[in-house]
Amino acid sequence: MQSLWHISLNKYDCKQNRKYETIFTLANGYRGFRGTQDFSKKGECGNFIAGIFDKNDAQVTEIVNCQNPLVLNIYFDSEAVDIDNSEVLEYERTLNMQEGVLYSKYTLKLPSGRIVNVQVERFVSRNNVHRWAEKYVITPVNFSSKMFVENIIDGTVTNSSLDPYYKTKHFEVVGLYDLKPGIALKTVTIDNKIEIVEASTLFHLNTHGNIFTNRKFGKFGEIAREIYEAFVKEGREYTLVKYGVTYTSRDTKDDILALAKEELSEYIREGYDFEKDKHVEYWKKLWDDIDIQIKGDDPAQRGLRFNLFQLSSSAYDGDERVSIAAKALHGEGYKGHVFWDTEIFMLPFFIYTNPKVARTLLMYRYNTLDGARKNAALNGYKGAQFPWESADDGTEVTPKWGFDYDGNPVRIWTGDEEFHINADIAFAVWEYYRATQDREFLDNYGTEIILDTAKFWSSRLEYNKEKNRYEINKVIGPDEFHEHVNNNVYTNYLAKWNMKKALEIVEILKKENPVLLSKLCIKLGLSDLDFDEWQRKLQLIYIPMAKDGKLIEQFEGYFDLADIPITEYDENGMPKWPDLKGHKLHDTQLIKQADVVMLMLLLGDEFDLESKKINYEYYEKRTMHKSSLSPSMYSIMGLVVGDTHNSYKYFMKTVYTDLEDNQGNAAFGLHAASTGGSWQSAVFGFGGFSVDKEEIPNFNPWIPEVWSELNYKINWRGSRIKVSVNKDTVKLSSDKRTEVKVYGKKYVIEENNVLEIPRM
Ligand code: BGC
Repeated sequence: MQSLWHISLNKYDCKQNRKYETIFTLANGYRGFRGTQDFSKKGECGNFIAGIFDKNDAQVTEIVNCQNPLVLNIYFDSEAVDIDNSEVLEYERTLNMQEGVLYSKYTLKLPSGRIVNVQVERFVSRNNVHRWAEKYVITPVNFSSKMFVENIIDGTVTNSSLDPYYKTKHFEVVGLYDLKPGIALKTVTIDNKIEIVEASTLFHLNTHGNIFTNRKFGKFGEIAREIYEAFVKEGREYTLVKYGVTYTSRDTKDDILALAKEELSEYIREGYDFEKDKHVEYWKKLWDDIDIQIKGDDPAQRGLRFNLFQLSSSAYDGDERVSIAAKALHGEGYKGHVFWDTEIFMLPFFIYTNPKVARTLLMYRYNTLDGARKNAALNGYKGAQFPWESADDGTEVTPKWGFDYDGNPVRIWTGDEEFHINADIAFAVWEYYRATQDREFLDNYGTEIILDTAKFWSSRLEYNKEKNRYEINKVIGPDEFHEHVNNNVYTNYLAKWNMKKALEIVEILKKENPVLLSKLCIKLGLSDLDFDEWQRKLQLIYIPMAKDGKLIEQFEGYFDLADIPITEYDENGMPKWPDLKGHKLHDTQLIKQADVVMLMLLLGDEFDLESKKINYEYYEKRTMHKSSLSPSMYSIMGLVVGDTHNSYKYFMKTVYTDLEDNQGNAAFGLHAASTGGSWQSAVFGFGGFSVDKEEIPNFNPWIPEVWSELNYKINWRGSRIKVSVNKDTVKLSSDKRTEVKVYGKKYVIEENNVLEIPRM
């Protein structure tokens, strides 16, 4: 039986390389290495270092695919080991998520008939983010010969390497060095002159004397290499370790080449096992915080762990200038840009399992406020307008052009119109504060975000004199099938929430910290006059509703569009395109992803159960789930309204987004929002965790028939609550006395005691 901690691939098919490069990416928040197949040139290597962006002649600023230090070539006499040119006799690649190590083993028959057995381990250290390593065990099965091992750092890498037109090189190689031991290659980015040093070397693990008889350093244009010569005997195992170290000028003001050289020597001295053990230990501790156990359903358990693994690999608390991209550190998709995906889909996972990282992610938004202010000014608004797509400085970087589903060029309007991100970020700040009570963050950073986004909304509202109401027109809501719409409810509702929350905070500060308030007012150019104006305006923000007052109209005029509900589903139970009967997609009520339903989840307390049910049922029949952000939200709302069958289906769809590539684009990078959606679906959905208006953690769990148990942990205001749900009971324990509600009834969990309630 396959371990519940392993993701394995048992058959090699080079056509699948790009997809598995994403799935087998190893990252530590500082950097990500795509899971390139060793001894293959088929695929798209990726070495992404968080925060290294460049534009040069690309369409927009993008994450830089840095020089590739992972290359290692082996030759027996002059015959190169090339998996794509060999018969693959045995093959297995396993991502061990518990350890954070990628293991490979395969046996190749080379064209000459030589059979070689290869075992590889790879990790990107979480203990020391600058370090990574690979260990190769090579066995010549049926021959003895000379072996050459070539360790390479490749500076020829470009972004968009498979796109002849858009291929862009974002750095210049400025130096190739023989470090003795090891080699290094230094690059500098084109626009911001960020320096990057990759250094690596090869060691033979000495069991029967040093096998390497000769070593030679070489510079080949933009490639640095060292080559080692050895003689290998039939049937013997040869273990080689490739140590790698990375530094950039973003990390330090010191000489990064000297630093890398020093670090590499230290690393070699400490050895592979030392670092690997520390890395594995780190993961062990991390899993203790983040793991969710689902007993009785192995595919759900394994799939969910994959999402938790990749999401926590994508961030760390070491750099407040970076956030998690939509494709994380796993691919060039969406150009390494950060979307609302982070705050609305991924952040809850960090808030409740690792609040330090959550804070760091929010600090990225604080640190890019100046860019957001520039966006607002450029568009004729006030305050801060966070970009729909964000890179290093908070200015808008959404490309203006892209391609539609049929490959035709289309103008992309999201960067001009998808305003809701501003309220999403403000909302996330408050979510973090509510769960952590981190007042220092709120006072010094969070409040400024909430006030300046409120200021933006106030300037963005349009007064409709005839109807005496404020509108937000020409927008795109979460559902991107409909552009230039007026009064998208999600946007309007959250804009109103944003302004209201700002005013609430102002009231608190007036009482508790007037000095801070006046400092902020001076900094942001605000006064009581503005606050009065916000108060007046927000009362009049228009929220379109159906006549019965329960069914919300996603945006003004939505109900007048052609109503073509979904009637057919594919073998996974996902919607098939209905016949549009000659209508253009945007002239129909079909939507790309959760929109009204999302709003009702974020502001759950503001809508009664009947409204949730009516809206869920209406929109579920019209949602195509053409974004991986969608199924998780329907899974959670399905549980709220009692559609448990669909909830499970949507949960599994979310969890398997990348593993089964069900959006068809896993090759371009991780669906990071969907990893966060997986956590939300497990904890907010099946785990039934929510926070109510009284700010009390609520637990209303429900588990599918096949699950015998669901266990998870959350941090709430300094206490750690453990939740365990089985068929009969809900058990809660906490390291501090905590007030909770279970199925709507108040209880207190006494410190280190177990509260046991019968299941409903
Ligand atoms: C979705 C957006 C999302 C973006 C990045 C789009 O397809 O519609 O909601 O932010 O992908 O993941």
